[in-house]
Amino acid sequence: MENQRTEKIILTGDRPTGRLHVGHYIGSLQRRVELQNSGEYQKIFIMVADAQALTDNIENPEKVRQNIIEVALDYISCGLDPEKSTLLIQSQIPELCELTFYYMDLVTVARLQRNPTVKSEIQMRNFESSIPVGFFTYPISQAADITAFKATTVPVGDDQLPMIEQTREIVHKFNTVYAPVLVEPAALLQEREACRRLPGIDGKAKMSKSLGNCIYLADTADEVRTKIMSMFTDPLHLQVSDPGHLEGNTVFTYLDAFCREEHFGRYLPDYANLDELKAHYQRGGLGDVKVKKFLNQIMQELLEPIRTRRKEMEKDIPALYDILRKGSEEAREVAAQTLAEVKSAMRINYFEDAELIRAQKEKYGA
Ligand code: TRP
Repeated sequence: MENQRTEKIILTGDRPTGRLHVGHYIGSLQRRVELQNSGEYQKIFIMVADAQALTDNIENPEKVRQNIIEVALDYISCGLDPEKSTLLIQSQIPELCELTFYYMDLVTVARLQRNPTVKSEIQMRNFESSIPVGFFTYPISQAADITAFKATTVPVGDDQLPMIEQTREIVHKFNTVYAPVLVEPAALLQEREACRRLPGIDGKAKMSKSLGNCIYLADTADEVRTKIMSMFTDPLHLQVSDPGHLEGNTVFTYLDAFCREEHFGRYLPDYANLDELKAHYQRGGLGDVKVKKFLNQIMQELLEPIRTRRKEMEKDIPALYDILRKGSEEAREVAAQTLAEVKSAMRINYFEDAELIRAQKEKYGA
């Protein structure tokens, strides 16, 4: 028990509803790989959350089925290493459903209704009065995902904070009512503000598949270049000599997220750093095309090795399913152990409870 408390365990995941894009990369994937390679974590579980994806995709389950492998390809091509991180598919761990069922008793409908992420998702999807129960309760199932692995650390985007908060409440309640078997997780957010929520190439608040404004990790070099050259900048910056604005200027937002000082030495040696480039843009005399070309060079440098690894993995898809199967089996053992502890804490492990059987027997005087 003592030993378990000092262990640092990561669990995180994604819904397989599409390929992953550079927003996922800078907001979370890059960090996961760093955490994986830091050697600070005893266990790392990365979940393809297919069951959660079904909660709002029941009209299109095939989409979820198809995208499991896309997400897994993206994971590995970004540097998640199956030797160091356990990659698993949520639906293959039935213990998660059982945990969810018991946790449901610890949460009120009103509390779920207050969850801001669920609230805004309900609005975005126009569910109104036809909210699927499974969707409404997915924060509880997410609490099961996290606690099944006794995760201490959940690296996520800030839209997931309400889920972690709700998980902590469930853990607290469970540990108080029953016995302290669950671990309260902490969210781990991307430190740099600029990396937290990358806008789409059209400047809209979020990269999203349905808006068609994403740069995917699997895009070809040409696709990436075309997308960057079409990016939203500053509508008032008509001529190179005009002063430019940085506010809401997507190209500069991306530079804030992706650009490092060393990139200037390599691609734009006339400037020492991003501040100098920004100052010139604001003064006037710096054209969008030049800035976009610079961003393109940075993005190509980042994406090229990812694309190459992906191509390599694409040659052996069965091997990838094998990785996911093994990871799911390994994960299942861990979840089963937690479930056993949960049921024992709840005292619903009747057949292992010799004391209960003896007491009942005595009651009947036999
Ligand atoms: N809700 C997450 C998303 O929409 C996916 C997810 C499912 C998850 N279970 C999780 C994230 C557990 C972190 C921990 O992307």
